[in-house]
Amino acid sequence: MLKEIPVSQLQIGMFVEAHGDGTLANPLCHPRDYVHSQAQINQFMALGVMKVTVDTAKSSLQATKAQNPPFSRQDREVARKVYSSCLSHAMDVMQKVRQGFTVDFTQSYDAVDTLMTGVEENPAHMVLLSKLHHYDDYTFRHSLNVSLLALIFGKHLGMEQQELRRLAFAGLYHDVGKFKIPLEILNKPGRLSEREFEVMKHHSIIGYELLKGHPGISEDILLGVLHHHERSDGKGYPRQLTMEEKDPFSRILTIVDIFDALTSDRTYKKAFTPHESIKAMFSWRNESFHPGLLEKFVECFGIYPPGSFVRLTDQTCGVVVEARPESPARPLVKVSFSRKLIPQLPIMLDLSETPRSADGGVDIENCLDPRSLNISVEHFI
Ligand SMILES: [Fe+2]
Ligand SMILES: [Fe+2]
Repeated sequence: MLKEIPVSQLQIGMFVEAHGDGTLANPLCHPRDYVHSQAQINQFMALGVMKVTVDTAKSSLQATKAQNPPFSRQDREVARKVYSSCLSHAMDVMQKVRQGFTVDFTQSYDAVDTLMTGVEENPAHMVLLSKLHHYDDYTFRHSLNVSLLALIFGKHLGMEQQELRRLAFAGLYHDVGKFKIPLEILNKPGRLSEREFEVMKHHSIIGYELLKGHPGISEDILLGVLHHHERSDGKGYPRQLTMEEKDPFSRILTIVDIFDALTSDRTYKKAFTPHESIKAMFSWRNESFHPGLLEKFVECFGIYPPGSFVRLTDQTCGVVVEARPESPARPLVKVSFSRKLIPQLPIMLDLSETPRSADGGVDIENCLDPRSLNISVEHFI
């Protein structure tokens, strides 16, 4: 509905349809855009505009956006510190493994506990950190990301604390065996030959052997590590297990492992967007994953998982910052770009509480690759 109001009542988030009365001294103008800053309001005043016509339906939508407080910088910094301290611990342990030192893996429970506290206090920022693209130290970050994503997913599945702790541990060390694989194979730019792949496939058995016998490393952790490349159709490795034979931890690790690998840059491929990764995983769900578990994963992380760069139907763009399990296609989005992709004052938009576009609200129109647009998502979360 259109409503004329004095410029003094104009607020950030309102949609200005028009101003002016069509005379030469006061020509009719149709900005048809949201007010993004106080500077725009000041500009109207400087131009001598007395009244503006606003679209109240669109304005209330933006007001809903503005009411949601943005994630605080402090939360982000705390999450960053948790992620970095766990990463440096993982790097330290893995490098010792590579150098052949005897490692006390159980010390890593401290790092797992730190990670669990981080996820408890700040799950959204922790997930977002796992989805930033860092190509150089993939193997280390991947280990931590699998632990982190498994923790969040396990929590969503209703696992209790001690079980979650063991699952996070299994995630952290699921690929520890890779640190015994020759570097020329592990870091080979390009795809592996058949023979090299056969060598690489040993990493799950090597990891199992490295961890076996250490106090505090239970059977469910060992099986999770050993079986994380087993598939539902019995075509995985190392044992070609059937769906029923796969243990509960490895069912979870298989999903988060593939999701993290797809959404990461590798020597031979660029990262898929989180949304593309989910689509690809759905096409493999019958042969790769335990029945119904991928659907639970999507319930937990959404169809547009955190870190996705999306265009909304009002053509503004932003980053998905938090999934909404009750509505997987309508997450919380930090809208930071105008329709012309110009950075704007960020606004939090909880799509799960916003009407659909058919009802005068807004939907996600599509998912974009921010890097093809020279946008670094890291700066906008
Ligand atoms: Fe692996
Ligand atoms: Fe992995």
